[in-house]
Amino acid sequence: MSQRVAILISGSGSNMVALAQSMTGDHPGRPCLVLSNDPQAGGLAKAQAMGIPTAVVDHRPFKGDRAGFEAALLKVLAEAQPDLVALAGFMRVLTGDFVRHYEGRMLNIHPSLLPKYKGLHTHSRAIAAGDTEAGCTVHEVTAELDDGPILGQARVPILPADTPNSLAARILPLEHQLYPLVLRRVLEGGRSPITLP
Ligand code: GRF
Repeated sequence: MSQRVAILISGSGSNMVALAQSMTGDHPGRPCLVLSNDPQAGGLAKAQAMGIPTAVVDHRPFKGDRAGFEAALLKVLAEAQPDLVALAGFMRVLTGDFVRHYEGRMLNIHPSLLPKYKGLHTHSRAIAAGDTEAGCTVHEVTAELDDGPILGQARVPILPADTPNSLAARILPLEHQLYPLVLRRVLEGGRSPITLP
């Protein structure tokens, strides 16, 4: 019996596509829903083209009402009955109340070598700090932002001419390699971290 994977997005959904494309054949998971907080998210059309059910819970009507937004998210997720939730470019902060519903069953990909550079603007911060390498991390989601157990990391050198955009462009393909590897390992019951290269 396949495990049901819900994927939350806010934008282009390139990580969602990589995850969905990996869930074929003898893979233990299958995508059951792609859910976005943004009705304009480019990833929604990509999911629909792949035959994956989609839903939108627009966060804007819930301005100032985070609990209301999360209750609406939880309702839509509950209908899809996911065994695991993968945040993939999902740009809303989730409270501990939300996370507790999927404790141990929710993953996120973050564009830095955690625990360095939690939050936003990760590549510009790494460059400004004079770091020699950067990368991405897949971690278990906990109540603390970008802080859960690390399940995978991919590293790239920071080159002298790098800008945040050039660094992001070099890391994104590695995200697309790393996240599916971690997803499969987690669904197969493993939690030992994967490192690339
Ligand atoms: C990626 O860089 C990811 O690390 C971050 O959001 C960006 C966009 O991802 N969380 P996607 O193309 O929407 O998957």
